[in-house]
Amino acid sequence: MSMDSMGRDMAGNAGDASNAADATGRLVFDNVSMSFDTPKGRMRVVDQVSFDVRQGEFVALVGPSGCGKTTLMNMAAGFIKPSEGQVLLHGKPIAGPGPDRGVIFQEYGVFPWLTVAQNVAFGLRLKANRRDASERERIVERYLRLMGLLDFADAYPKTLSGGMRQRLAIARAYAVQPAFLFMDEPFGALDAQTRSAMQDLLLQVLQDEGKTVMMITHSVEEAIYLANRVVVISARPSRIRRIIDIDLPFPREQRVHQSPEFGRLRSEIHALVMEEYAAQQKLNAAARVDA
Ligand SMILES: Nc1ncnc2c1ncn2[C@@H]1O[C@H](COP(=O)(O)OP(=O)(O)OP(=O)(O)O)[C@@H](O)[C@H]1O
Ligand SMILES: [Mg+2]
Repeated sequence: MSMDSMGRDMAGNAGDASNAADATGRLVFDNVSMSFDTPKGRMRVVDQVSFDVRQGEFVALVGPSGCGKTTLMNMAAGFIKPSEGQVLLHGKPIAGPGPDRGVIFQEYGVFPWLTVAQNVAFGLRLKANRRDASERERIVERYLRLMGLLDFADAYPKTLSGGMRQRLAIARAYAVQPAFLFMDEPFGALDAQTRSAMQDLLLQVLQDEGKTVMMITHSVEEAIYLANRVVVISARPSRIRRIIDIDLPFPREQRVHQSPEFGRLRSEIHALVMEEYAAQQKLNAAARVDA
C-alpha cells in the first residue's frame, strides 16, 4: 500500500471519531491539511491527516524533523487554523487557545521577567483558572517540589540550567491541571536520568489527575513507554504513516523496556521512523539543489 493510500485509509477509520455521541473529551484531526506561504512559494506541510485522541488517552507523535509535528500541535492548541479540514475538540472546531489545554513548547516556554515561583503561579492568576492566594501557594509548592525546584522558587530563569528551565516549563503547565496536555519534545533537553524521572512523574501525574495527552517526541522508546498509541508521521508533508497500539499494561515501570513486547514495538516503530527520516533527508537535499 502506498503511503498516500494508507493516509487516506486512516482518514476513513478516523471518520467515526467526529461522531457527536462520544465526542466529549476527544480531540479529532479530521482530514486536516496545512500549507504555508514561503519565499519559494506555497509549501504543503500537512496533507490530509486524520487521527483522534480519546478522552484519557496518551497519544505520542513521532516523525522526522521538519515533517510538520509542531504544526499539528499548534492547531490543537488553537494557535493556527488548518488550510483544509478541521480540528475538533468535544466535537466542535477549535476557535483558539483555551485554559483547558496546557501547552509545553519545544523551546523553553518560561517568562524571564518572573521568578521560578511566579512562573508556576502564572496560569493560576489568569481569570479562567484563578485560585485564591493560599491555594495558589499550595499548588505552586506541590509542583516545584515534584520538579525538584523548591530551593529555586525565588530565582530567575536566567540563573537556571537548561534542564531546570525545561522542568519549570513543565511545572507551569501541570499547575493549572488542564484536561488536555500538549507537549512538544518536553524532555528533549534533559539528561537521561532526569528524563526517565520526568517520564515516571508524568505517568504519576496522569494517574492522579487524569488527562488526555498528545506528545511529540523524537525518542521511540519514550513514545512506547508513555503512550497508549503511537502515531508515526511521514516525511513532509505530514501524513499518517501508521498508528500503533501499545498494549503494555499500566502502571508502567522502567523495567518494561526489557520486555520482549517492548523490543518488538521498538523494532517496528524504529524501522518506520528511519524510512521516513531517509525520505525527509532526500527532500532536504533536493531543496538544497534547487536553491
Ligand atoms: N509559520 C510558518 N510559515 C512558513 N513555514 C512554516 C511555518 N511554520 C512551520 N513552517 C514549516 O513547516 C515545516 C514543518 O515545521 P514543524 O515545526 O511543524 O516541523 P516539526 O515536525 O515540528 O519539526 P522538528 O521535529 O524539527 O521540531 C517546516 O519546513 C517549517 O519550516
Ligand atoms: Mg517541532
